[in-house]
Amino acid sequence: MTWNIDRQSVLVTGGSSGIGQATAEALAGMGANVTITSRDAARGEKARSAISRATGRSVRVELMDLSDLGSVRDFADRFRDRNEHLGLLVNNAGGVFGSRRETVDGHETTFATNHLGPFLLTSLLSESLEAAGRSRVINVSSVAHRYAKEGIVFGDLAWKNRRYKMMEVYGHSKLANILHAQGLNDRTGPNVEAFAVHPGVVGSSFGGRGGSKVVRAATKFGKRWMRTPAEGADTIVWLASEPEVDTSDGIYFSDREPTKSTRHARDVSQADRLWDVTEKLVSLA
Ligand SMILES: NC(=O)c1ccc[n+]([C@@H]2O[C@H](COP(=O)([O-])OP(=O)(O)OC[C@H]3O[C@@H](n4cnc5c(N)ncnc54)[C@H](OP(=O)(O)O)[C@@H]3O)[C@@H](O)[C@H]2O)c1
Repeated sequence: MTWNIDRQSVLVTGGSSGIGQATAEALAGMGANVTITSRDAARGEKARSAISRATGRSVRVELMDLSDLGSVRDFADRFRDRNEHLGLLVNNAGGVFGSRRETVDGHETTFATNHLGPFLLTSLLSESLEAAGRSRVINVSSVAHRYAKEGIVFGDLAWKNRRYKMMEVYGHSKLANILHAQGLNDRTGPNVEAFAVHPGVVGSSFGGRGGSKVVRAATKFGKRWMRTPAEGADTIVWLASEPEVDTSDGIYFSDREPTKSTRHARDVSQADRLWDVTEKLVSLA
């Protein structure tokens, strides 16, 4: 079955701003049937109408908070009720937080938002992905996964026993995104392909809305040197639309090329262990 993005059903998490909105717009412009998610109805609707205006295509918006596992389950139920095959899932939504906080489920917020929520969502939508015949999952990771120098810290995933260092905590969650993509490839048939992407440093709303004031300020003042959201979306859109992607040099991409990730990100045993632990944390096991 030849891969073609035209008429594919596509879900982009966090399509209400930045890289996600730019990705959703580009894919809708290529003829995909796009659903975006947001935590906020007004923000979601604003993005939905902007994408529709720009592309002339109808776009759906759904509410979901990835830091709340109940919200992820509710959304997945609504999506599955549509009985729609899912050709492409872009796990884009994410955040960075200046201090340690816990979610309603008692998880550390960065790990929950950037890894646990997307992992649960992908698992709950796995039948919709398989039903598409051929499908793709793209996890928006980051070069910041390099901050996770010790790899996944299985003994303290909730960051309770160590000093909270924002970029280390964020990088740890972005390492989990790459390992999640690896784990998916190891578990699904050849018809579901998973990738991870570093989008570049992008002048988006990153760090805003309760995130990190430092990151938000750095983005505000450094915007002119940063990529635009559309430039940041480029490799994601390329992976989404390229008929065949060669992964013989790895599944972590940047600037349309397989890119070297850390040894932890390439560690299959770490991917396996993270998969098992995550299944328990999100109550799938
Ligand atoms: N900006 C960069 O330089 C950069 C570099 C490397 C990687 N990344 C990655 O790129 C992705 C997108 O970031 P961005 O730069 O486009 O940032 P952004 O403009 O802040 O967009 C983040 C998106 O995620 C959504 N989101 C945030 N928290 C959420 C939650 N708890 N549940 C559901 N959705 C949530 C937001 O939607 P609502 O607020 O409407 O819910 C928003 O649409 C992130 O995964 C980030 O780690 C960014």
